[in-house]
Amino acid sequence: TRTIKLAVIPGDGIGPEVTEQANRVLDAVIAGSDVQFERTEFKLGAERFLETGETLPEAEQAAIAEHDVILFGAVGGVPGDPRLREANIERGLLLKLRFDFEHYANVRPCTLYPGVTSPLENPGEVDFVVVREGTEGPYVGNGGTLRGGTPAEVATEVSVNTAFGVERIVRFAFETAKSRPRKKLTWVHKTNVLVHAGATWQRIVENIGAKYPEVSVNYMHVDAATIHMVQDPAQFDVLVTDNLFGDILTDLAGAIGGGIGLAASGNINPDGNFPSMFEPVHGSAPDIAGQQKADPTAAILSAGLMLDHLGLQAEGDRLRAAVRTDLSSRGTEARSTTQIGDAIVAALPSRG
Ligand code: NAD
Ligand code: IPM
Ligand code: MN
Repeated sequence: TRTIKLAVIPGDGIGPEVTEQANRVLDAVIAGSDVQFERTEFKLGAERFLETGETLPEAEQAAIAEHDVILFGAVGGVPGDPRLREANIERGLLLKLRFDFEHYANVRPCTLYPGVTSPLENPGEVDFVVVREGTEGPYVGNGGTLRGGTPAEVATEVSVNTAFGVERIVRFAFETAKSRPRKKLTWVHKTNVLVHAGATWQRIVENIGAKYPEVSVNYMHVDAATIHMVQDPAQFDVLVTDNLFGDILTDLAGAIGGGIGLAASGNINPDGNFPSMFEPVHGSAPDIAGQQKADPTAAILSAGLMLDHLGLQAEGDRLRAAVRTDLSSRGTEARSTTQIGDAIVAALPSRG
């Protein structure tokens, strides 16, 4: 029997609701196999902060690091809640885990499943993956405020792009493209304005691309990429871009793929020196929390990416087949979070 140590961070709002369903589906998928999960739950997030003043105690981070993988729900309170302004749970918890555990490959697939309505009238066959850099860019917090609160206030947020960081994400993206049937890579930046980082990215894409002659490469400015993503999303196979552009493009991709309730992601540490973390693209959705209104599909598909990462691709495929069945037969009647979990468990195809 293979025992997988799974750290679970349900978080806030709808995080615990969708994570519960992801865990149920995981248990149903591996039932009867020689794999088992040994789970540890960590209560972290805005709620924990408001109760105890703690965001991510060092000992808990060390305990999380001892696990094979992490399943993450969502964290954060109502946007703008003054009690959370100082704490900044998103930076102090979520981004801290991504940075400290070197989740440099933030992998966010966008597949428009049959039966799912896209807001686009004529989307075509949408099946692409955004490879978002996860440890650099404007997210590193390199900046500051001068003369704060005065009319002469100056605030900076400097985007950090290291050759080391750009090379490893670009190489990962080429490997991803090489493994897919269409073998196409679109790199996205804003080289006409962000000339320094743009030149670094360009040189590295060209250098690494020379070693992948089978992958076709094209470039788009990020603003134009949003047009192309709406007008012809079927043209994309793999996209690679920096942390902030990738954040924005993947919410757009989520909407195109039928809604943020379906958008999954993996924060991957390809080197394996820290656990990778799997989470829906969406947040804690305080507006619908506690009402069983959240769609758990994004969390469930994120658990599917986790199975792939663990080398359990066949089980990941079974999970996706069940989601595909559920999505293709969704009626117009509203279902609860648990009912969607039930339906996906019931739709799991038998093994082999
Ligand atoms: P959000 O993603 O939480 O919600 C945006 C909209 O999408 C809301 O109307 C919400 O009801 C809806 N929605 C989200 N997930 C859904 C689901 N599974 N099913 C159905 N509808 C869903 O974004 P927000 O409102 O900007 O942020 C709320 C909080 O979450 C903030 O504190 C934010 O910082 C945090 N956040 C956390 C993460 C994360 O933990 N990874 C990601 C994004 C935002
Ligand atoms: C996401 C979220 C996070 C990000 C926030 C909550 C820090 O929007 O996972 O896309 O910007 O990466
Ligand atoms: Mn985001």
